Amino acid sequence: MRAARSGAPARLTTPVGIVESPRRLYIREWFNANTGESMSFINAKRILVGTSEETVRLYDEMSRVAPSNAPVLILGDTGTGKELVARTIHEMAPRGSFVTVDCSSLVGTLLATELFGCVRGAFTGATETRPGLLALADGGTAFFDEIGELPLDLQANLLRVLQEKRYRPVGSVHESRSDFRVIAATNRNLAREVDLGTFRRDLYYRLNVVTLHVKPLCRRRDDIPPLVEHFVALHGDGQTTDPDLMDILMAYHWPGNVRELENCVRQMLVSSHGPSLGVHCLPSHLAELFGAPGQTPGRIPPKPVPSGHPITPLEELERRAITQALAHTGGDRTAAAKALGIGRTTLYRRLKALSVEAS
Ligand SMILES: Nc1ncnc2c1ncn2[C@@H]1O[C@H](COP(=O)(O)OP(=O)(O)OP(=O)(O)O)[C@@H](O)[C@H]1O
Ligand SMILES: [Mg+2]
Repeated sequence: MRAARSGAPARLTTPVGIVESPRRLYIREWFNANTGESMSFINAKRILVGTSEETVRLYDEMSRVAPSNAPVLILGDTGTGKELVARTIHEMAPRGSFVTVDCSSLVGTLLATELFGCVRGAFTGATETRPGLLALADGGTAFFDEIGELPLDLQANLLRVLQEKRYRPVGSVHESRSDFRVIAATNRNLAREVDLGTFRRDLYYRLNVVTLHVKPLCRRRDDIPPLVEHFVALHGDGQTTDPDLMDILMAYHWPGNVRELENCVRQMLVSSHGPSLGVHCLPSHLAELFGAPGQTPGRIPPKPVPSGHPITPLEELERRAITQALAHTGGDRTAAAKALGIGRTTLYRRLKALSVEAS
């Protein structure tokens, strides 16, 4: 979309949330239909992707809340996409700027200055009057990332801004005004923090008007194929993904959620040599876990496994071990049984059960 490319906010041409057969549509396709952006441009963008029931439901909730001014609290584990959800809500009905306040990276007066701005001479080093993030967010969206980390004194200040839309820049005697939409996110259990007294109850109620839960990736595995495809398009060079590899990516539990999946895809793109990503590109910890031939750092990756399931059934391993032992001992069953650490009768029984030719 031309408007977004030139920096102007995008306006949606049809009401948000109206999607025919949403399960068949990637969200990027929805954006394509509603904003007129070209698909290749959308592929290059950070867009919320997913086709699982959970993501489609989340997307519906987002599109319902986007046009309103209601505060939104986004809860979810690390790497699940909370910041992307916040940005997407803003983009669905853009007004003003999207300003991120990272509550975990700043402390004390630094955070106060960052948030409220300061006047010249407010403290040593304040050589000029500087607007804070709240001034920049006026008319737009202020996203409070890791809100659970906000110190108690600033929680009181923030509450006042949300209630009265007024604040005082550091060192100023005058109040400033800012009216913004507030979106907050955390991976902490805020309700528990309220009970423990580390998070203000009144601020919690103020923020918790609409709550969105972003599920861990292992509880919405249907999102994995479109996400892999999206990240390959975003970071790769037109590669395709082998079905065997996709099976493994879908089976893994992804403790680091979408962030870990994205990093994994980037890693595989670096180690791949050719037009497709296969199990041979898997990072070693995943290859080990699934018994697949993965790439080891500093070694040329082995050729891709042509086909078949990446996990070898135990019965097949047993058959191979027995055949190998018999070949090694020249067919001497007593010696083979000894080498395998089993009794002669057990070996006979297993030979029969596995239909191994003991020549
Ligand atoms: N559904 C999704 N579609 C496309 N990209 C996604 C999706 N979810 C997450 N991502 C990508 O995964 C990465 C992590 O997402 P994000 O930073 O939004 O997670 P987070 O929940 O804020 O994590 P943290 O709690 O660690 O701050 C980002 O690069 C983001 O663009
Ligand atoms: Mg985040």
